[in-house]
Amino acid sequence: KNRSLLTKSVVLVGMMGAGKTAVGRALAHMLRVPFRDSDAEIVAAAQMSIAEIFERDGEPFFRRRETEVLTRLLDGPPALLSTGGGAFLQDRNRALISEKGVSVWLDADLDLLWSRVRHKDTRPLLKTPDPYRTLSELFEARVPIYRKADIAVRTDPSFSIEDTARAVRAAL
Ligand code: S3P
Repeated sequence: KNRSLLTKSVVLVGMMGAGKTAVGRALAHMLRVPFRDSDAEIVAAAQMSIAEIFERDGEPFFRRRETEVLTRLLDGPPALLSTGGGAFLQDRNRALISEKGVSVWLDADLDLLWSRVRHKDTRPLLKTPDPYRTLSELFEARVPIYRKADIAVRTDPSFSIEDTARAVRAAL
């Protein structure tokens, strides 16, 4: 735990709004390892936003890019990786992640997730007539799969980003 380098990549998984990117960045800094975000890598390569990619090329296209990016990142030196909320759902991605990394589920209540995503327009999956209902359905369907992560760390509205990053570090 005192070493600054990881032997394996740490992969943050969990719902939209759980704080994967913010916590990942803070934890990477604490552990002195590179930080990579799979969504950001896809956006940079495509030169389009996630919403534009979904609109123009469809979700299956996005999911293929996501698997490619994860494969590439997990083949690199150990890093702190944050993923999009859907990444851990694909068997193929879970197999890749468990082979080369340690998965950490950032476990947050639906209310907290909703409070974080409700004012944003960046998530194509929530562009539905009833986004709260959509989020709660995704939550119900996905939590059983997130539970398969190697480690689960609870996040709470009273936790700062740094608090959560420290909780993940302590659990590694
Ligand atoms: C998705 C979550 C998003 C992004 C895309 C799909 C999902 O990432 O990958 O909109 O399926 O839950 P965040 O979890 O960072 O919002």
